Amino acid sequence: MMDFDDALADLASQGLLRTRLVVDGPQGPLLTVDGRGFLSFCSNDYLGLANHPQIVAAAQDALRDYGMGAAASALISGHGAAHERLEHDLAAFIGWPAALSFSNGYMANIGVIGALVGAGDTVIVDRLSHASLIDGARLSGASLKVFPHNDVARLEQVLARCSSPRKLVVTDAVFSMDGDVAPLAALADTCARHGAWLLVDDAHGLGVLGPQGRGSLAHAGITSSQAPHVLLMGTLGKAAGVAGAFVAGERSAIAWIMQRARTYMFTTAHPPALAAATSASLNIIARDDWRRAHLRALAEQLRSKLAGLPWTLLPSDTAIQPLIVGDNHAARGLMQRLREQGLWVPAICPPTVPKGSARLRISLSALHTDEHIARLADALVNAARESTA
Ligand SMILES: Cc1ncc(COP(=O)(O)O)c(C=O)c1O
Repeated sequence: MMDFDDALADLASQGLLRTRLVVDGPQGPLLTVDGRGFLSFCSNDYLGLANHPQIVAAAQDALRDYGMGAAASALISGHGAAHERLEHDLAAFIGWPAALSFSNGYMANIGVIGALVGAGDTVIVDRLSHASLIDGARLSGASLKVFPHNDVARLEQVLARCSSPRKLVVTDAVFSMDGDVAPLAALADTCARHGAWLLVDDAHGLGVLGPQGRGSLAHAGITSSQAPHVLLMGTLGKAAGVAGAFVAGERSAIAWIMQRARTYMFTTAHPPALAAATSASLNIIARDDWRRAHLRALAEQLRSKLAGLPWTLLPSDTAIQPLIVGDNHAARGLMQRLREQGLWVPAICPPTVPKGSARLRISLSALHTDEHIARLADALVNAARESTA
């Protein structure tokens, strides 16, 4: 039997022990932890909607109208008017024929992949895809192949050699730990030529990329009529500021997924108040272009201030700005140093990222100010100066 204490001590000695802090109060750039104020660059609340008064009010109204729990799975009696409205709103927002909502993105990916492929089929994943896509592929029973990050030519070779009856290519749209964007138009085209589906995980692009924040497919100019083999998975706990997820695609594909996705069928529907809050959030996402414009300006400001550091800032025009430190202990040390100055930036270590590429994952929010960015940049420049002194 495993000795848990030894195993935990071993993780700690490798700089891999994960810990949690308790945040008191609502999410936003300024957080209170243990009574102490922090300026946060941790969250995926890219548009600053997690505590938006109109979204909170929509949830409160729905709590009054529908109560708290959904009380059953969607296919029994848990699918209410708020869920139905949300699925229409999501399909209209994305501009795709139909959408099906899930409790979270992890479950959506597992359910969708398992509904599309099984034993004898093949799933081909970008090497840096999110854990939920890899787990979904493993659980499906299909054979799993990996292509190098964003390498469409290599994907083409894998597809050309694959004789499985059903082939599914999966990728993040915006890579969660790198902030770069997948070459979606080329991927969609390659998949179409090889008779493969493409599942795009837009957890970090929805709300941030594309006209009115309609996501990475819109950003890449991909429409459902041109690309009926493409499915979009979006999460609603990041830029949308609420919780949940959905998959959008052709009507018949969505109808099939509803029949077959085990993480949709065998779980309680999420609370109707969350669905109502998400519908309110979609309106704000489409309306508030200023949030995306400000986010882009903040990213440019940060990038110009961090040029010349001894650590590598990966190329990214999204809200995710990763600073590669390399060594796990060094990344954690830098995180700790910033924390002592009231700045909270998470260090991300393997297995979340490849070995030797531990990093600070700086994530920006539309509620950050120019002063917030200057404070972070100054602290990093000072830390760099001391580390090389
Ligand atoms: C790319 C990606 N896909 C899926 C998920 C899972 O989404 P959720 O948090 O809604 O489970 C995440 C993060 O949590 C993610 O970063």
